[in-house]
Amino acid sequence: MYPSLEGKVVVITGAASGLGKSMAERFGAEKAKVVINYFTEEQEVKGIIETIEKAGGSASAIQGDVTKEEDVKRMIAHAIKTFGSLDVMINNAGIENEVPSEELTLDDWNKVISTNLTGQFIGCREAIDYMLENKIKGSIINMSSVHQEIPWPHFVHYAASKGGVKLMTETLALEFAPYGIRVNCIAPGAIDTPINAEKFADPELKTGVIELIPMGYIGKPEEIAACAVWLASTEASYVTGMTLYADGGMTQYPGFQAGKG
Ligand code: BGC
Repeated sequence: MYPSLEGKVVVITGAASGLGKSMAERFGAEKAKVVINYFTEEQEVKGIIETIEKAGGSASAIQGDVTKEEDVKRMIAHAIKTFGSLDVMINNAGIENEVPSEELTLDDWNKVISTNLTGQFIGCREAIDYMLENKIKGSIINMSSVHQEIPWPHFVHYAASKGGVKLMTETLALEFAPYGIRVNCIAPGAIDTPINAEKFADPELKTGVIELIPMGYIGKPEEIAACAVWLASTEASYVTGMTLYADGGMTQYPGFQAGKG
């Protein structure tokens, strides 16, 4: 547990399911005040709020599209109005779809870039602006992916967005370090979340993914949430501009395991 998170106000985008949901529940268990942004899944959010309140945290939900500036501004205003501040911003909302690159439409490219990269930028900018103005030494966590590092055929838009998240994170970390605002990213590997449900429902595809993971299993959302609470806590007070890979070793060249090469 991280006592420094008690009472801290945390905004998490795309928190109705998957990693966002898991992080919301974990911050709730740390007795933080959690603003849960969702896009369409209003019903699911009610259950998350109940779980958080039972654990002794507080939570409030707000609908919003991370690609729209006015929606992101509204999310942050909601946090300030409801809980009085903003200490931790987690830019988590993201999408992916598989398309061979020669067939990828500009529309699909733009959708992924605007959610995964531009949406995260808006979240960073709005949070930093508030933190600067209010002299808050806050923490910003951007959800990246192993594909900020590993090229991924048929997902060129996704890989490009995550590569962008990496350098955006590092640049903002450098720019705002003098103000005590830390900006980091988490790069999960293959995690058991709805974004992967279809793929993991197919035993052959699932086995193919597991072969790429030296630790030999698909990660659990709670294993990513554990990274997020640490990064947001004072335990990580000297950590900025970093990527925390949580991938079971996926980025360590699994093809070279057992003396190959
Ligand atoms: C993607 C998953 C994928 C994993 C490893 C993640 O960023 O969301 O769909 O399984 O990377 O390739």
